[in-house]
Amino acid sequence: NVAFTDFKVADLSLAAFGRKEITLAEHEMPGLMSIRKEYAAAQPLAGARIMGSLHMTVQTAVLIETLVALGAEVRWVSCNIFSTQDHAAAAIAVGPDGTPDAPAGVPVFAWKGETLEEYWWCTEQALTWPGHTGPNMILDDGGDATLLVHKGVEYRKTGELPTADNEELAVVRAVLENSGLDWTALASEIRGVTEETTTGVHRLYEMHREGALLFPAINVNDAVTKSKFDNKYGCRHSLIDGINRATDVLIGGKTAVVCGYGDVGKGCAESLRGQGARVIITEIDPICALQAAMDGYQVATLDDVVEQADIFVTTTGNKDIIMAADMARMKHQAIVGNIGHFDNEIDMAGLAAIDGIVKDEVKPQVHTWTFQDGKVLIVLSEGRLLNLGNATGHPSFVMSNSFADQTLAQIELFTKPEEYPTDVYVLPKHLDEKVARLHLDALGVKLTTLRPEQAAYIGVEVEGPYKPDHYRY
Ligand code: NAI
Repeated sequence: NVAFTDFKVADLSLAAFGRKEITLAEHEMPGLMSIRKEYAAAQPLAGARIMGSLHMTVQTAVLIETLVALGAEVRWVSCNIFSTQDHAAAAIAVGPDGTPDAPAGVPVFAWKGETLEEYWWCTEQALTWPGHTGPNMILDDGGDATLLVHKGVEYRKTGELPTADNEELAVVRAVLENSGLDWTALASEIRGVTEETTTGVHRLYEMHREGALLFPAINVNDAVTKSKFDNKYGCRHSLIDGINRATDVLIGGKTAVVCGYGDVGKGCAESLRGQGARVIITEIDPICALQAAMDGYQVATLDDVVEQADIFVTTTGNKDIIMAADMARMKHQAIVGNIGHFDNEIDMAGLAAIDGIVKDEVKPQVHTWTFQDGKVLIVLSEGRLLNLGNATGHPSFVMSNSFADQTLAQIELFTKPEEYPTDVYVLPKHLDEKVARLHLDALGVKLTTLRPEQAAYIGVEVEGPYKPDHYRY
């Protein structure tokens, strides 16, 4: 028996704690657990080699073990340097039947507080498949795994490394330069990718528009049971969890600015208001701005309110939202954080470059920045997504929806490649409705059944789908 050492986590002795939380989470993830039961015999993912790049949390552990239960081989990394829960990673490496001395789980390469070099090293490890060229499926969150494969293929084709116009791409460059992986062969074996988040989905559509997408993709984010639940109700829970754990500042009575009123912004604004904050929204889209106004929020420009607010949260998935010059105008001890996928919403480099500014660590992922005049700002997770950096991300029940979507999307792409030529797809509506249905009993929801003549009257089948594709919920 060869010892299983094909993983890297912070501390295997955390596995028992991780396992206890995984067991508690399973009860809160009825979607994933019923999919496990439904497909246990059929093993639809037998033969699938799934490389996953998605925050290595307790909830993700339940996803990983669901994919394995359906027959897949899995290798995993986090998609953010701060988002791993070390006890969850340890439990996945040890596995339900292993021990810290004799781990017998899934290859996972993830720990909280990776450097960028370590982050991309981990991604490469998860793409490196002993006995095979690589994975044949990717499950991505933010698109970093998909990006690395595409950059690798481009590099092999042109002999040119990607231009390193930021620190991150410089690391990607170094990975490609030193990697022994056969990117072209690896990409040709990939049947498809299922993408978790808004930002990753943007990247996929962009690649497809440019004719550069190498394999089919399912946009899991735009399943209704994903973006209208995880992005909104998930952030409604985990935004203030992050702010509370980081600062324990009373939110009630404060003024909070939420930049962006998309799905994430809507959830964030609601949670801050729920705590008694006065919430101001900034938007560039007139529809979302009008929605915010109708929901009772003040809608203003950052420029107009930057000196009044106590808490700032970016939720746009866009870049350069809060700049150093904005931060210079904020109040003493204003709190600044981002919940969008990437760390380019807040100008951290500009902040660091302010003359005489001093950064100090209060605790990991909480920093004060002291200006020359003595004013202090509190910046969360160095501008990276704070709900996963300062807290533990979304709770299990909402992730059960997202991850049930992910699992069904993996089954679709893996088992029906002929139905999905290279393009970006959303999950078929009957599967979206199925995922919602799987979560009703746990909440005591009693659904009304359409009578056949009613179904005929509104032009749907009794068993659904109930809405046309253009319906927006
Ligand atoms: P969305 O597209 O629904 O919302 C973003 C909103 O920001 C849009 O309404 C857009 O008009 C607005 N916006 C863009 N530029 C702006 C600017 N300069 N100023 C003000 N508003 C601006 O996207 P969604 O689904 O809300 O996702 C937002 C980000 O959050 C993405 O990066 C996504 O990947 C990420 N995300 C993070 C999660 C987490 O747990 N931290 C969970 C889900 C998504």
